[in-house]
This record gives sequence, structure tokens and C-alpha cells, in this order.
Amino acid sequence: MNWKTLVFVAVAGAQLAPLADFPQSAELALLMGDLQRLTHKLALSAEAGNVDLAAFYLHESQEQLRKIQTEAPEYENIPVALLIDRLAHPAYEQMQQAVTAKNAKQLREAIQPIVTTCNACHTATQHGFIRITAGPEVNPFNQSFAP
Ligand code: HEC
Repeated sequence: MNWKTLVFVAVAGAQLAPLADFPQSAELALLMGDLQRLTHKLALSAEAGNVDLAAFYLHESQEQLRKIQTEAPEYENIPVALLIDRLAHPAYEQMQQAVTAKNAKQLREAIQPIVTTCNACHTATQHGFIRITAGPEVNPFNQSFAP
């Protein structure tokens, strides 16, 4: 047996766990963790009245929601993609308007409907114990949110 055959046999015999066996819930939790970070930074930017930064995190949040819809459209028979369409996406409209109008006061108020929606969906999916807050009082990041 030459080395090429050896490598072939080693690789062919390797028992890689099929990807489908990974629980989808773990993946959804990770995707949600990213969404949480983006939401927190959106809240900090909005609170600081930083329109450009809020616009950035608004866009990133919406991208993340679309990513969740694509990568975890269903979770334990819960239609995640559908719920995001009906509940989550519309909740960002007020923030979109505030960013377009460059209105700092509106920017601060627009975070609440978003956070309310996070919690509404957690309740609807039997995860009401995960309670999200806007949390703009403390900045835990090594980042300035000032305009
Ligand atoms: C489709 C409904 C839905 C929406 C909308 C939603 N979530 Fe979730 N979220 C879930 C579900 C279901 C889980 C549990 C996932 C699991 O069990 O793996 C979860 C889990 C989480 C977790 C726990 C994972 C962790 O890293 O601690 C956080 C945090 C979270 N969501 C944040 C948010 C935030 C912030 C928003 C709003 C911007 C949001 N979620 C919107 C359904 C939703």
C-alpha cells in the first residue's frame, strides 16, 4: 500500500458526524446572541443620538434577521422565518424613519418597539424567560457611541 492509498483509506474510514445531526437550536441561539449584541449597540448609538452609527446597526440587525430566516427558518416546529416576517421586520420601521429624518429624539424612542418584539417572540416560542432590555445605561463595549 503506497502513501496515497493509505491517506485514501484513512479519510474514507473517518467517521465525521453528519451535519444534519447537529441540533438546530444551538445554531439559533448563536444567531440570536449576535442579534442581541447588534441590538444593544443599536440602543447605545440611538441613546447617544448618533444617527450614522444607529443607521449602521439598524442595517446589521436587519441583515442578521434575514440570516436567521435563511439559516433557521424553523425551530422545533415553530415557524421562525414567518414570525420574523410578521413581528420583527415591521418593528424596525420607526427606527428607519428616525434615521432617515436624522431625528435624535425619535431615535431614542424607536428602540422600544424593537425590544418589545424580541420579547413578544420569545414568549410566543416558549422562551419568555429570555427577557431583552434596551440597556443603554451602561456601555460594556470598548467602543465609543458618541456622534
Ligand atoms: C422568531 C421569534 C424570535 C424573535 C423575533 C427574536 N427571538 Fe431571540 N430567540 C428565539 C428563540 C426560539 C430562542 C431560543 C433558541 C434556542 O433555544 O436555541 C431565542 C433565543 C435568544 C437569546 C438566547 C441566546 C443567547 O445568546 O443568550 C437571546 C439573547 C435572544 N434570543 C435575543 C433576541 C433579541 C435581542 C431579539 C430582538 C432583536 C430577538 N431575540 C428576537 C426567538 C426569537
